[in-house]
Amino acid sequence: MHFTSPPHDRAATVSTLAMPKDTNGVGDIFGGWLMSHADIAGAILAYRIAGGRVVTVAVNEFIFLRPVYVGDVVSFYTDRSRIGRTSVTIDVSVFVERPIDLGEIESHLVSTAQLTYVHIDGNQRPAPIETRP
Ligand SMILES: CC(C)(COP(=O)(O)OP(=O)(O)OC[C@H]1O[C@@H](n2cnc3c(N)ncnc32)[C@H](O)[C@@H]1OP(=O)(O)O)[C@@H](O)C(=O)NCCC(=O)NCCS
Repeated sequence: MHFTSPPHDRAATVSTLAMPKDTNGVGDIFGGWLMSHADIAGAILAYRIAGGRVVTVAVNEFIFLRPVYVGDVVSFYTDRSRIGRTSVTIDVSVFVERPIDLGEIESHLVSTAQLTYVHIDGNQRPAPIETRP
């Protein structure tokens, strides 16, 4: 499930600050930076569900809804979408917090993504996921 506003029942899996070094040619944050952090956030939840190492096998979808600016606090919320035999699919919802006035901050959904991870064994081969919460 993707979130339309930051959920209150869980912390962001990854939260960080968008910096000038992460900008594209027009001064906004470039999409690859967002994709990298979404991949990390999804991998953290997948790792916890699988109980061990995972690798990304597919980016099923990545949608950029609004731009991200330098100085935004960017938070990646994750949710389990599907657990297979060796794979787990994670939905990622990305929100920014941005000051609009002195002491006032607004929050926007800027991206949604869905990625699939495979639990791997010591030989880098797919391994069954035994945890099925
Ligand atoms: C991930 C990897 C171990 C899978 O190996 P494989 O031999 O293709 O494994 P399988 O065919 O048995 O598939 C394993 C699982 O992945 C799923 N899968 C494979 N390709 C997929 C795709 N394109 N999209 C979604 N799921 C996929 C399968 O459905 C299966 O899930 P299930 O067991 O829950 O049903 C292998 O492809 C790999 O090492 N890829 C590189 C991973 C990597 O380096 N990622 C970082 C990229 S920078």
